[in-house]
Amino acid sequence: MRIEFVTNHTSETMSLGHKIAANARSGSVFCLTGDLGAGKTTLVRGMAQALNIKTVVQSPTFNIMKIYFDGTRPLIHIDAYRLADVDTDIGLDEYIAYESGLTVIEWPEYIARLLPKDSTTIEITNLGDDTRQIIITSVDQQLIESLNK
Ligand SMILES: Nc1ncnc2c1ncn2[C@@H]1O[C@H](COP(=O)(O)OP(=O)(O)OP(=O)(O)O)[C@@H](O)[C@H]1O
Ligand SMILES: [Mg+2]
Repeated sequence: MRIEFVTNHTSETMSLGHKIAANARSGSVFCLTGDLGAGKTTLVRGMAQALNIKTVVQSPTFNIMKIYFDGTRPLIHIDAYRLADVDTDIGLDEYIAYESGLTVIEWPEYIARLLPKDSTTIEITNLGDDTRQIIITSVDQQLIESLNK
């Protein structure tokens, strides 16, 4: 299933992230794509807010993985960019789809082989100024329905 949104303000992208996390099943994996400044971190901040995480979510540029444990459920934020040419197994698969948490993966194409088949994709496109198109594709019917409300 696929659902499409257009947001016109940072706060609307945050709200969408909030709604996604509030309605996602534990163990869900989200593949998040979008160019520099598209709004990826903004959306993840909304997700963190829904989980009552107080730590400020940053772009994961200098981390391959950051886990926020200080909320109602763990949020695992992965940036696979620098794993592009890495053959070494760093055990990331232990954290993807972490049973009680939600996993968000930026640059998912670089770890394609580690991604669960039922991952939800979130694609953000900058349409200019403050307008963003956000396309969500998921096999989780309940999630998509909850976003439709
Ligand atoms: N509708 C919108 N949704 C999200 N961000 C918006 C929107 N309109 C404007 N912005 C601005 O776009 C920028 C989004 O930044 P953000 O850090 O979330 O992007 P990012 O995709 O994580 O970028 P990077 O790849 O550099 O980490 C912010 O400066 C924000 O204020
Ligand atoms: Mg970012």
